[in-house]
Amino acid sequence: MYRALRRALFLVPAERIHTWVFNGLRVGTAPAPARRALKRSLAPHDPVLASTVFGVRFPGPLGLAAGFDKNGLGLATWGALGFGYAEVGTVTAQAQPGNPPPRMFRLPDDRALLNRLGFNNEGAGALALKLAGHSPDVPIGVNIGKTKVVPADAAVDDFRESARLVGQLAAYLVVNVSSPNTPGLRDLQAVESLLPILRAVREETNAPVLVKIAPDLSDADIDEIADLAVELELAGIVATNTTVSRDGLKTQGVDELGPGGISGPPVAKRSAEVLRRLYSRVGDRLVLVSVGGIETVDDAWDRITAGASLLQGYTGFVYGGGLWAKHIHDGIAARLHDGGFASLADAVGSAAR
Ligand SMILES: Cc1cc2nc3c(=O)[nH]c(=O)nc-3n(C[C@H](O)[C@H](O)[C@H](O)COP(=O)(O)O)c2cc1C
Repeated sequence: MYRALRRALFLVPAERIHTWVFNGLRVGTAPAPARRALKRSLAPHDPVLASTVFGVRFPGPLGLAAGFDKNGLGLATWGALGFGYAEVGTVTAQAQPGNPPPRMFRLPDDRALLNRLGFNNEGAGALALKLAGHSPDVPIGVNIGKTKVVPADAAVDDFRESARLVGQLAAYLVVNVSSPNTPGLRDLQAVESLLPILRAVREETNAPVLVKIAPDLSDADIDEIADLAVELELAGIVATNTTVSRDGLKTQGVDELGPGGISGPPVAKRSAEVLRRLYSRVGDRLVLVSVGGIETVDDAWDRITAGASLLQGYTGFVYGGGLWAKHIHDGIAARLHDGGFASLADAVGSAAR
């Protein structure tokens, strides 16, 4: 049924339909009885799916990835739709409009998306007000990035300001230095730039701090960031963001759409590779959050057994529809029971050991 609905929805430009669907989901989950009913049928209830990761209790491992709910407008929605948690943002210290539209496109033959939104958001202060007025039913992480007009040499204070505003209100905080759509942002992944940013963010919050990395980093850079994260005793790494690579796309005319990051199946292979590399380097010393092209139960299970304690999806949700999170959680629970795992934690990294 969602396939037919999706065909109709996909006639509308991508960003507009995102807003419509998002508003529909918010309205549909606004009344508490509706939320309760949805939660009863969609939320992960099997205790085998629950885990405590960096001190936070997650009812299920699959969360909504950053970028879908940039401003925390749907804080009460994501648990009702069956996600185990949500990462809101990216927010920046100053509100900003992002890049001019059109800036988001579907690549249907690849079940992928291309976006160059450029961190359009209402600012970390506005998100802080929403978080302060919300009692979460699932953990809400916050993803912070650099304000576009702030020069690279002032990035530390810009990240510090975001962390100061939202740091005490988030279940965890992600330092995003991996979006391809803010000029110079990914250069901050170099350890000498990243180190002072992570130190500053840590000083502003007691929440677990993670760093989100790009799939386009070299293996050597991934190793360096992993070592830095261990040295700083970060909580973990989120891998990965969208890719700038256009290799192997089936959709015609992608180059005419202009620059941007590609998400969904085209990033899956590299995202899984990065996860494996990270796990072999850091093992259980960091929590690994895998995101990038997770569509099916097989994908999800593969990432868990390769070392991911938590998963996230954006594009899989867009193409999969409202039952997607439940489908993935049910599938993971079945694999855990079939494999004789007493808990999710026992399965994490089991294929790599
Ligand atoms: C339209 C769109 C907007 C995004 N915005 C953000 C963002 O603001 N911050 C961020 O860290 N990642 C952002 N992402 C990246 C996703 O969080 C995720 O890392 C990436 O899409 C790969 O996962 P997926 O294949 O499940 O979509 C965005 C992705 C898309 C498709």
